Amino acid sequence: MQLKPSVEKITVPADELPPHLAPKDWMIDAPPLGDWAKRFYAEYVSITDEKELIDHLLEVRRRAWAVYQYRCIASFLFVNYNLREMYGAEWYQGILNRVNSGQKFLDLGCAFGQTGRDLVYDGAPQENIISGDLREEFWELGYDLYRDRHKFHAEFRQGDVFDPEYLADYDGQIDIVHVSSFFHLFEQKAIIHRLMRLVSSKRGSIIFGRQMGNTIPWFRKHPLRRGQGLYQHSEESFKAMFESVAPGKWDVQAWLTKRDVPADNGGFRGRLRFIITRL
Ligand SMILES: C[S@@+](CC[C@H](N)C(=O)[O-])C[C@H]1O[C@@H](n2cnc3c(N)ncnc32)[C@H](O)[C@@H]1O
Repeated sequence: MQLKPSVEKITVPADELPPHLAPKDWMIDAPPLGDWAKRFYAEYVSITDEKELIDHLLEVRRRAWAVYQYRCIASFLFVNYNLREMYGAEWYQGILNRVNSGQKFLDLGCAFGQTGRDLVYDGAPQENIISGDLREEFWELGYDLYRDRHKFHAEFRQGDVFDPEYLADYDGQIDIVHVSSFFHLFEQKAIIHRLMRLVSSKRGSIIFGRQMGNTIPWFRKHPLRRGQGLYQHSEESFKAMFESVAPGKWDVQAWLTKRDVPADNGGFRGRLRFIITRL
């Protein structure tokens, strides 16, 4: 299957790359609101007034930033992210159909739980969606962000993906894994190993998501967190990394949407999206 980023025109700014900012400028003044976000926050969160929505998002970001300083929080990447626009309407419909028919969807490194809500907003049954994160504070903030404690009851599991016991009761039972702005935080082979236990051995199991990429693979020291880094893959190195670890046959599709400004290693950074399907 040849992957297409989207069969529809992508609504700016859902797929707009965040600007190349110095860490001191990460805190952008106000969230850019794309059409999808305006509709989602009006219909799911019941905030229709744009000024009220911006104030609400600024307040949640302030509290989230105090929990942990992620760039995706500072620059409001969570506001416009939705699976339909990121991966294409037709492909996403296939994912929705599978979750609707009982398949299990895991969002790993879920933060506020935005992807679980995205699916539920589009009609997916909550009982088939599991979200996991190291920091339960983000998940709790999600109820304030989405004002849905009364109606959103999908399962959350707090834990560390590197703890072999974490999610162990789901081993072999997950049909679809979503990981967004997550893989690049780590040397990725260890996570692939872990995911190989979690995902179902059935044909068609999927791991998909996005992370920071680069036309020239690079380990970049994190600009804020000493001792940490950002692992940036190219399309080719990501594929090779996955295939060097994952047993069995998989179709690995990855595509990089790059910025025009060169990175310090001479390559071009950008967003690497991937869809990996068990054959
Ligand atoms: C950069 S944020 C991305 C959040 C969200 N997926 C998104 O795209 O906006 C990374 C998330 O991974 C979680 N995380 C970091 N290390 C983790 C670990 N070892 N196990 C599980 N979750 C982890 C963080 O708490 C955070 O919510």
